[in-house]
Amino acid sequence: MGEINKLAEKITAPIVPCDVSNNDDMLNLLTKAKEHFGGGVDFILHSIGMSLNLRKGKHYTEIDYGFNQKTLDISATSLHRLLATAMKLDAINEWGSVVALTYIAAQRVFPDYNEMADAKALLESVTRSFGYHYAVKKHVRVNTVSQSPTRTTAGSGVKGFDGFINYAEKMSPLGNASAEDCANYCVSLFSDLTRMVTMQNLFHDGGFSFTGVTESVIEQMEK
Ligand SMILES: NC(=O)c1ccc[n+]([C@@H]2O[C@H](COP(=O)([O-])OP(=O)(O)OC[C@H]3O[C@@H](n4cnc5c(N)ncnc54)[C@H](O)[C@@H]3O)[C@@H](O)[C@H]2O)c1
Repeated sequence: MGEINKLAEKITAPIVPCDVSNNDDMLNLLTKAKEHFGGGVDFILHSIGMSLNLRKGKHYTEIDYGFNQKTLDISATSLHRLLATAMKLDAINEWGSVVALTYIAAQRVFPDYNEMADAKALLESVTRSFGYHYAVKKHVRVNTVSQSPTRTTAGSGVKGFDGFINYAEKMSPLGNASAEDCANYCVSLFSDLTRMVTMQNLFHDGGFSFTGVTESVIEQMEK
């Protein structure tokens, strides 16, 4: 909470606590946001992920389904709850933009990503499905950004993260995208310059997603 307080002070923004798996919290968050801004907002970033099975060290083949439901609720259904609540309160302005952060484990297997792979697949599906309805209703855009592995609290929780981030670096022609690069890309998606982009999963990964192999990885294998 220390860092969030510092940020809030710097930009004179109120902090509204919200457990995204709780309907009342979500309603409160968007109601307060509307009050604060005196109307709807132009953009929202969904930057939330939590795997209870990963936390408890459960292998993917032996997950606890109670934990799994909570993981899906927090990491993916929360985007639906956010959009549904925003639609009900009319909390996003015409041509507004919503971005959620995701990872390529939704499309390809990364064994240690565990149940989060399924959560990200659901997140990307909600993006398409709700994106359709919000576009038709109010020209609101919904996209996911599929980010390179990045050293953060959640990122570092993935087993073997150091080896993995180095591997991704070597497999990406441009190298891994940093957190700052990710923020810049999100800003471009919040801007009117991308107003016709919606329901997409957009890879922001230095080219990793479309690279079969790199010379750097081959060199490593020959050692
Ligand atoms: N770090 C990476 O390598 C990486 C790569 C691709 C995508 N992402 C995605 O980026 C997003 C942000 O993750 P991060 O890497 O910055 O890690 P992080 O741990 O800093 O962020 C996760 C956030 O989720 C919040 N959260 C967890 N449960 C919540 C709940 N019930 N209600 C409200 N908030 C809750 C936490 O408070 C935390 O702020 C996640 O969706 C993550 O999957 C991360």
